[in-house]
Amino acid sequence: MIGKNTERGKDFRAWFSSFVRSFEENGELPPLLKVKREHSLRVAALSRIIADDLGEDAEEAEAVGLLHDVGRFPQHRDYGTFYDALSIDHGELGQSVIEEALSQGDLCLPAPLEAPLLTAIRHHNNLALPEGLQGTTRFLAALVRDADKIDVFQVVREWFEAGRASELLPRLEPEGRLSPELQEERTRQGRLTHRHVRTLSDFLFLQLSWVDDVNFTPTLEILLKRGNLAWIADRLPEEGHSAARQAIERARSRIPRAI
Ligand SMILES: [Fe+2]
Repeated sequence: MIGKNTERGKDFRAWFSSFVRSFEENGELPPLLKVKREHSLRVAALSRIIADDLGEDAEEAEAVGLLHDVGRFPQHRDYGTFYDALSIDHGELGQSVIEEALSQGDLCLPAPLEAPLLTAIRHHNNLALPEGLQGTTRFLAALVRDADKIDVFQVVREWFEAGRASELLPRLEPEGRLSPELQEERTRQGRLTHRHVRTLSDFLFLQLSWVDDVNFTPTLEILLKRGNLAWIADRLPEEGHSAARQAIERARSRIPRAI
C-alpha cells in the first residue's frame, strides 16, 4: 500500500494536493492550471482502470497518473506557456520536482518505486520511450502515456465541441484544412510530429496517429467505446478521411473483443 502518510512525508495524493495549492493566486488556481489539475486526476483514474484490467498494481498506476504532469505547474508559472519548445521540457521539469520533493522529505514513496516513477514522468511526453526500459519502469512509463492520451482525446473533443478549441490551442489556425507538409510526413515516415501542425484540423489528424503508439488494448477499447476516433474522423476535412478510417481499422484490429 503506497497511499499512506508517514513521518517521512506525505503520501502521493496528499503531496499532490498541497503541491497544487502552492500555485494558487489569491486563493485560486489560474484557470489553465485548474485544467491541468483535473487532467492529472483523470489520468490517475484511467491509469488505475487500465492497470486493473491488466491485473497490475493499481496503486502504483494511480501514483504515476497523478504525478506525471507536475512539471506543468512551474512551467506555467515561470514561462506562461505549455509549449515545451518555447519554454522547457515539462517531463524533465516534473522529474526534478519529484526528485526535490523526495530529497526534502516532503513526498514519501516506497523506495523501489522511486526510480521507475521518475523515469516514467521524465519520458511521458517524449515522441517514443527510450529502448531498454524494463519491468515496473517500462510498465509505468507505457501506462501513463496511454492514460494521458485517452484524456487528451477527451479534453480536446470537449473544447472543440464547446467552440473553444482556439483557447486550448492558441497558436493554431482555424479548422478546415490539413497542411500538405503534415500529410507528406505521414506518407514519408508514418509517425507524425508537432512540427507541421499548423491548423486545428492538423492537430486532430496528429491525434489520430497516436493510436499506433498505444501500448495496451484496454486503452484502445476505451478510445473506441467513447467514440473519440470516430468523432475525429467525422470532423476532419475530406483529405483526411481515408487516413482516419485506416487508423480506426488498425485500432479495431488490435483488440480481441469486438467493439
Ligand atoms: Fe504531460
